[in-house]
Amino acid sequence: MEPGDGQKSRILVIGGTGHLSKFVVAASARAGHPTSALVRATAPPPSPSSSSSSSRARLLQSFRDAGVTILQGDIGDHDLLVKAGRAADGVTPAAAYHDVGEQDKIIAAIKEAGNIKRFIPSDFGNDADHAHIVEPRAVEAEGIPYTFISCNFFAGYYLPTLVQPGASGLPAHRVVVVGDGNTQAIFVDEEDIATFTIRAVDDPRTLNKVLHIRPPENALSMNDLVSLWEKKVGSNFERVYLTEEEVLRQIRECPELSIDLAILHSVYINGDHINFEIEPSVGVEATEIYPDVSYTTVDEYLNRLM
Ligand SMILES: NC(=O)c1ccc[n+]([C@@H]2O[C@H](COP(=O)([O-])OP(=O)(O)OC[C@H]3O[C@@H](n4cnc5c(N)ncnc54)[C@H](OP(=O)(O)O)[C@@H]3O)[C@@H](O)[C@H]2O)c1
Repeated sequence: MEPGDGQKSRILVIGGTGHLSKFVVAASARAGHPTSALVRATAPPPSPSSSSSSSRARLLQSFRDAGVTILQGDIGDHDLLVKAGRAADGVTPAAAYHDVGEQDKIIAAIKEAGNIKRFIPSDFGNDADHAHIVEPRAVEAEGIPYTFISCNFFAGYYLPTLVQPGASGLPAHRVVVVGDGNTQAIFVDEEDIATFTIRAVDDPRTLNKVLHIRPPENALSMNDLVSLWEKKVGSNFERVYLTEEEVLRQIRECPELSIDLAILHSVYINGDHINFEIEPSVGVEATEIYPDVSYTTVDEYLNRLM
């Protein structure tokens, strides 16, 4: 599994139809890895992150067209996971953060399969050692070779609402700004996250490390982001600044917004995307080690929303 030795590892994506994982499946196939995607047999009920049954069918067809092997099943099927794991070198699951129990099932299957050379846990958020959001890291304790991906904000989750808590579209005249608006957040297009993730699988430099994705042009404060958008649309927005006290009150009193606001508190008040240097013994930065990957800038992403 050395870069350049001509051997592309076999990749298994568990939950290949998710918001991020569909990009990971596509990036893996595009990079020439023999790729399998484990998907559930039936489409889930509609939710913001789930696809309709027709778009799901189209997605699965696009996987087949790209040469991806589709395995039908559930994370709860231990024997299937072990069998799929034995036919793979690198595994990345895509269950959402609250499905920690699902990740434990995957870890148990990987341990039994015994041959996995790289496991990419489904964190895909902030670095848990630095962010003040606790995520268990059973994988380290189990001795499975891993790479954690610390990709900061998914551009596709946050930019289409201009980081507005609880919103489903772009603001019209008014934006809520958590904190003083001067702390930077880092945005990364999902397609780029997938490309960097797949590059990391066969790379010894990322073994048992955190791969931080910090595209230099994509660190923007909320004030800068709003100004950039204002310039594009040619009008100014009223900015409503929420103090930390107000954010904490809303986290306590508005359960429907509490997760969104807790994340925004971590990023815009604690500064968890940018408040630490990457320590080389435990982490590497993606755009530094893969300078040939041309990433989408926030500016370009906002143009798509016009
Ligand atoms: N940094 C950020 O800005 C950010 C934003 C959002 C999410 N995240 C993190 O990124 C990761 C991926 O999130 P996401 O939003 O892409 O997830 P998602 O869209 O909810 O996808 C989850 C995937 O897991 C599959 N799955 C769930 N339970 C399963 C089971 N029992 N058996 C088989 N498959 C199962 C789902 O299958 P179905 O398609 O059949 O439902 C789906 O494909 C999570 O850790 C999340 O916390 C980060």
